[in-house]
Amino acid sequence: MKNKIFKTKSHHLHEVEGHELKRVLGPRHLVTLGIGAIIGAGIFVLTGQAAAQYAGPAIVISFIISGLACAFAGLCYAEFASLIPVSGSAYTYAYATLGELAAWIIGWDLILEYLFAASTVAVGWSGYFVSILNDIGIHIPVQYTAATGTTLVHVPDIGWRPITPQLKLELINRGISLHTLPHVEAIVNLPAMLIVLIISTLLVLGIKESTAFNNLMVIIKVGVILLFVIIGFFFVKTANWTPFIPERVVDDHGHSHYGILGILRAAGVIFFAYIGFDAVSTAAQEARNPQKDMPKGILGSLGISTLLYILVALVLTGIVSYTHLNVADPIAVAVNAMGSSMVWLRPIIKLAAIAGLSSVILVMLMGQPRIFYAMSKDGLLPSVFSKIHPRFKTPYIGTIITGAIAMVIAGVLPINILGELVSIGTLLAFVIVCFGIIVLRRTKPDLYRPFKTPLVPWIPLLGAIFCFIQMAALPLDTWLRLIIWMFLGLVIYFIYGINHSKLHK
Ligand code: ALA
Repeated sequence: MKNKIFKTKSHHLHEVEGHELKRVLGPRHLVTLGIGAIIGAGIFVLTGQAAAQYAGPAIVISFIISGLACAFAGLCYAEFASLIPVSGSAYTYAYATLGELAAWIIGWDLILEYLFAASTVAVGWSGYFVSILNDIGIHIPVQYTAATGTTLVHVPDIGWRPITPQLKLELINRGISLHTLPHVEAIVNLPAMLIVLIISTLLVLGIKESTAFNNLMVIIKVGVILLFVIIGFFFVKTANWTPFIPERVVDDHGHSHYGILGILRAAGVIFFAYIGFDAVSTAAQEARNPQKDMPKGILGSLGISTLLYILVALVLTGIVSYTHLNVADPIAVAVNAMGSSMVWLRPIIKLAAIAGLSSVILVMLMGQPRIFYAMSKDGLLPSVFSKIHPRFKTPYIGTIITGAIAMVIAGVLPINILGELVSIGTLLAFVIVCFGIIVLRRTKPDLYRPFKTPLVPWIPLLGAIFCFIQMAALPLDTWLRLIIWMFLGLVIYFIYGINHSKLHK
């Protein structure tokens, strides 16, 4: 048994299995794919809350810290992706270096990243979509716009909101009693399910069609972000940047805000904004020249997104005081603060957010079936997951199964639980990939590595440490969910995977 679970699949290093997928993606596609996956709910939803609650204008530093951790992990991904250019991403890297059990663990863990991220971002998409519909006078019944069981209350001048500790505080400040407001219990988040359905359908129809859609979405979101940065620059009041690092305060519950600790805490929150650069590596089997282009795709998209994030954070906290940013649409709030001459920019920002979130959902829902595909080729998952559609050349059954599960999750689970699970799952994958680089340098030092992570073992070690610190900062509940999830995965492996693994046959 020990021999089995630690057996590595070294021929992965030399040979690319399965030629059924179409090799159509060039370096530009790969960078766009990365940006498609990265820029989304993180910047359009979370930045304002992280600035308001934890870091103030120093959210800029949080972005640099989190970006650095991702850069370390990204360098490790780039080495692996150039060395093992097959579609399973970190799953395949673990199989080649740490053995089958580790590979299964990471493959199972990656479901938390890709499938759950798609659902999380679909919930964010639903928020923006409902808001745009409201703006043009179309109102979806509110019980179909939130996770099952969420209690929504109608707040005067604001509209329907889920009950959160923050909302309660706001109501107390406004002298409104929560019990006097109309309540509704949500049944399901219908728009979130709808977008997952539409995108899954597109993904079944073809990789080229899907990346064309992604390219368009990326052009819109990057264009609008640049527009915001350039116009916003003229509305910056430097007074909003002082103090750049607000003094630390401890609230009634003993939670600390601002100061150096606050900057770190905010870095943990906005880590979500960087998730996705690794998704590029799941398309390795559809890249024309993966050994050269994978590192470009991963590091290029990460670099461009980091730069955009830092610029947005600077302009955002320069236009409005960070104290006003504790909202779900911080960029729209900044546009409001620019004054009435800029109202035309508001709907454009919302559309960009919708475009941005759509592309994140697309790339995540594209990555997941490709990991299942690799796992199924190895026998760890049933063979339906590696069935390729004869005409569309896509792993269509895996895509349909992924889409169906993501749809249900998006419809019934709330965004905060989902978001933290995605972060912890991704961080765990990054830690394993960083260690994998150190291991492979020792066990197979002579392999030809088209891209080499610099300063090994220091960069991978720093990557692993940075990621682990961010994991440690997540709540205990999230850890428990991770542990239960991994336990479930182990049960499945020992019942199914170990007995069907092709490596043992
Ligand atoms: N990085 C992606 C986002 O922010 C997951 O939406």
